[in-house]
Amino acid sequence: MSVFAVSDTCQSVHRVTGWNQGLSSSPRKSRPDDALQTVSSARTIVAMGKPKRSAVQRYHDRVAPRYDHSYDDVFWQWHDALTWDYLKPHLPAQHGAAVVDLGCGTGKWAAKMLKSGYAVTCMDISQRMLDQARSKLDRQGDDVRADYVQADLMDMSMIDDGAFELATALGDPLACTTSPLRALKEIRRILQTDSVLVATFDNRLAAIDYFLEQGDAAQLDRFLRDGRTNWLTKLTEEQFPLITHTPQNVRQLVEQAGFEVIDLVGKTVLPMRKHRHLLSEAKARRDWSRLEKKLCRTADAMGRASHIQVAARAVDIA
Ligand SMILES: C[S@@+](CC[C@H](N)C(=O)[O-])C[C@H]1O[C@@H](n2cnc3c(N)ncnc32)[C@H](O)[C@@H]1O
Repeated sequence: MSVFAVSDTCQSVHRVTGWNQGLSSSPRKSRPDDALQTVSSARTIVAMGKPKRSAVQRYHDRVAPRYDHSYDDVFWQWHDALTWDYLKPHLPAQHGAAVVDLGCGTGKWAAKMLKSGYAVTCMDISQRMLDQARSKLDRQGDDVRADYVQADLMDMSMIDDGAFELATALGDPLACTTSPLRALKEIRRILQTDSVLVATFDNRLAAIDYFLEQGDAAQLDRFLRDGRTNWLTKLTEEQFPLITHTPQNVRQLVEQAGFEVIDLVGKTVLPMRKHRHLLSEAKARRDWSRLEKKLCRTADAMGRASHIQVAARAVDIA
């Protein structure tokens, strides 16, 4: 998800700016007082009976059917190739290892990890995103090898401790939680020690231009204090709080949650989204990728990237 925007879907809105072994047959914690009942059927674990959807769910449910279409262009193909290149070194060595795609959306990364031979769990807070992921994996012939969980990143109590050997949280789902730290601690819990989390965050510094365009110094001052803003979608009932981070912030946050940073990259440092016409030829795409990769780990250059991607190893917190 990138902050502050153009169209009304996740990453493009530049808002300010199996049966897997991991799933408990019953919830770890009982919840006598609410309707969040976890049930398992046809390989799906869903939170049932919640009458009211949150703003995050409403928004993502609405955009789910046209989500892939919004990212179907040369810039996002170039961007996705970089994401995969940065993710690949962290995939588990063992074929069939259990991995979880958190905030999976329509299953772009789950699909790739299934193709690479892993046992994939797709997890998202939006039921309609999960439905889209299921149809995509079905078309790919991989639906039977995937599990689906509807949950909030901040409460994945239906998943056992240490269930997975890799977690991805790409497209910034952590930004949509009210406490990214709480969510990261949950992610740490469901990962085995030494397993890796690969996650992306909206870069707070990239949003500065948006506030300048608004011409409101006080608003920018407030934003820079904690990086909090709201998702700028038209419907007020779909506007949810969003948290952005600086590269340094991302490092501190994941360390606080029980991880050790093993890679931190700006993505993308070159503002190719504005210059997507430069990406039409295959050779040009390769040349721009080479330059992007030269810059992406440079601390200074990272400040101007739209997103920060981190790979972090789960350390022993016993
Ligand atoms: C920008 S989309 C990214 C989808 C996918 N990971 C990708 O890279 O294409 C963010 C996804 O995170 C999900 N999400 C947002 N907040 C969440 C939360 N608190 N818990 C779980 N999923 C969440 C949304 O429903 C949405 O599918």
